[in-house]
Amino acid sequence: MIGVFDSGFGGLTVLKEVMRELPQYDYVYLGDNARAPYGNRTKETIIEYTDQAVRFLFERGARLIIIACFTATSQALREMQEKYLRNPNSKYKDRKILGVVRPVVEAAVLATHSKRIGVIGTKGTIASKSFEIELKKIDPKVCVAQQACPLLVPFIEEGWHTKPEAKSILKKYLRSIQTHNIDTLLLGCTHYPLMIADIRRIIGKRVNVLHSGEIIAKSVVNYLKRHPEIEEQLSRSKKDEGSREFLTTESPERFNEFARKFAGIEAKNTARVELH
Ligand code: DGL
Repeated sequence: MIGVFDSGFGGLTVLKEVMRELPQYDYVYLGDNARAPYGNRTKETIIEYTDQAVRFLFERGARLIIIACFTATSQALREMQEKYLRNPNSKYKDRKILGVVRPVVEAAVLATHSKRIGVIGTKGTIASKSFEIELKKIDPKVCVAQQACPLLVPFIEEGWHTKPEAKSILKKYLRSIQTHNIDTLLLGCTHYPLMIADIRRIIGKRVNVLHSGEIIAKSVVNYLKRHPEIEEQLSRSKKDEGSREFLTTESPERFNEFARKFAGIEAKNTARVELH
């Protein structure tokens, strides 16, 4: 089973693409909606919440966990890998935890010609500099322009992202990035694909705006090809289409409504769970 974790609804944009590429596996999606958004929280809090979610998903039987949240990946992925995969006393050493920053960074380095790359994300993601660090690990010559866009997630969660107010805020955020003459823009937040058409229109045709969900899904496919031992564990119950389970720490009804609106996913039998 593949566990997909996000602070709330945003990871559904990743899950949707991963399920499209790999429909045959079983998935459990966990959204910590009761404590979302994570974007403005401290690193310590994000580590604590992500740790609870990762333990929960491993206990439920996930062989592979995708932390489908840029904020949680930026602030807590390394800590989770240390604690669960590299610690000799861990029960889960044979499992895997993937984040979402590395795949989009690799795609951006391949896509850029000018080596000038822009990143937009939550406050936590931008403050962590995770994108800049990962981009420079691959190519130290890249110039990275970053912009936190903290108002976009609340607008999107309210379903207000199509309103003129949201577009004018987006325009303000993108203005600072535009001055850096970038040719590639990364959407460093799970919610932003919902505004990708506006982002592309505002930033202009000369900038390649990468769709994170699609890139992450392709990287999971490649990852499983490179790790047959994990693929073998996942495919033990292989069918044409695997099972889908949805869990939330808040209202299942609200989750189902959002999954439909947000990602076009029909979530049924969604259950409420507690993380601690
Ligand atoms: N899922 C988060 C991310 O990708 C956005 C929502 C939040 O701030 O929790 O950064």
